[in-house]
Amino acid sequence: MQDLFLSGGNQMKRAALFIPFALSISLIQGCGGEEQKAESTPEPVVETNAFAKAKGKVIYKNTCIACHGEGGVGMEGLGKNWIESEFIANSSDDELFNMIKEGRPIDHPMSDGVSPMPPMGGNPLLTDEDLRNVIVYMRSLQG
Ligand code: HEC
Repeated sequence: MQDLFLSGGNQMKRAALFIPFALSISLIQGCGGEEQKAESTPEPVVETNAFAKAKGKVIYKNTCIACHGEGGVGMEGLGKNWIESEFIANSSDDELFNMIKEGRPIDHPMSDGVSPMPPMGGNPLLTDEDLRNVIVYMRSLQG
């Protein structure tokens, strides 16, 4: 009887030792799992995009809006509508970058022949990063 009680007690002790041990293992695993998640989630990219978009909007308002209108709706005889532009939808970021950098002269095969777009919208002070940011903003208008 005493033996049984003792061995029972030992089991209890073992359980009492085992439970916190198991808990701490799962906590460690839990932490590790979260760390791995943080590494693989695209959150920093999303933040960077939001930042790039905000900066791109400033560029837009300073330079592009003069011809492309409030919110990229375009202006008759000046700049094209960005929201419905298939050219924008079908172009890669690099293609857009090059187009904006070079502008689109009136004799360009893609020109409507109505008015030209000057290189960088006529603002030579824009940096490559400015153009990348304005592309992020431009894409956000297309939804
Ligand atoms: C001086 C006026 C003017 C300014 C400023 C201007 N654009 Fe343009 N943009 C145009 C015109 C005009 C076109 C259309 C040319 C054509 O295809 O006939 C155009 C077309 C475009 C297109 C192609 C759209 C399509 O559907 O083919 C993009 C992209 C573009 N502009 C980006 C920009 C960006 C970015 C800025 C600011 C950095 C900017 N533009 C500033 C006049 C302007």
